Amino acid sequence: MNDLEELAEQIDRDATAVAFTGAGISAPSGVPTFRGDDGVWEKFDEGQFTYGRFQRDPEGFWDDRVDLQRELFGGEYEPNAAHEALASMGQDGHLEAILTQNTDGLHEDALESVRDDASATDDVTATDGVAATDDATTGTSEPTLLELHGNSRRVRCVDCGKRVDGDPIVERAADGELPPTCDCGGVYKPDVVLFGEQLPGAVIQQARTLARKSDVFLAIGSSLVVEPAASLPRIAASNGATVGIVNLESTPVDSSAEVVIREDVTEVLPHLQSLVNADC
Ligand code: APR
Repeated sequence: MNDLEELAEQIDRDATAVAFTGAGISAPSGVPTFRGDDGVWEKFDEGQFTYGRFQRDPEGFWDDRVDLQRELFGGEYEPNAAHEALASMGQDGHLEAILTQNTDGLHEDALESVRDDASATDDVTATDGVAATDDATTGTSEPTLLELHGNSRRVRCVDCGKRVDGDPIVERAADGELPPTCDCGGVYKPDVVLFGEQLPGAVIQQARTLARKSDVFLAIGSSLVVEPAASLPRIAASNGATVGIVNLESTPVDSSAEVVIREDVTEVLPHLQSLVNADC
């Protein structure tokens, strides 16, 4: 039995499986990664995107953020086979949670499309003419999705806390409204965790709890060099979980993992999903 088959068998044995993802899962969709030769931090100075700079110099921060936002999210990105495999495993009840460092919203898109497919199937199969809509009737489950670093599609007013669609606000900044502000007069901030900013306490707490209770913890497409990425798989391992790493390059956490697979996420995850389904 190979490594992937063993992971699939364990996941199928009612294990609590948790997936933790980074930029590598969205790379096949065309979203740039942060590190490596073509990484965003080769083109941009990450020191310009700190929380401290946002507070000190919101005008300059937003001026630079427009370029970063266009580099990172300028394309029309779609979820790929890896996002879809995780979403399907979540809906089949084989994945308790997806924790992501990505702010591109592609996990949510994949979950939505799996939900739509399930309800379309139920519309067709409902025998009493009433479409099934909830978990009890569809036999599906919904994995927890935690966007640890927030979501770049939104901005948030630092004064009143209102969250709005980010695209029009980035456009206003590009057109010279620096910094862009809310109706209440407060400055908008990308709804993401900036360097030097604390992750929301409740979110990191929930991520740690999920890592601790997992039996299988899959770290997917992340260099695992920033926090909490570096510590979550270690927390899982030290609580007895089988840690699997799927990444093209080696990571500092490889030595704590039982399974290390250096292949493309779009090959590995659909394969894992098919093995889990085959075991059902
Ligand atoms: N399949 C598997 N792995 C891949 C693929 C792929 N198709 N493409 C890229 N990778 C791997 C790379 O080898 C790399 O190790 O994905 C990893 C991406 O690492 P990073 O660019 O460092 O991204 P990430 O780990 O998500 O960064 C963490 O750092 O700058 C911050 O806030 C930013 O959330 C980000 C955090």
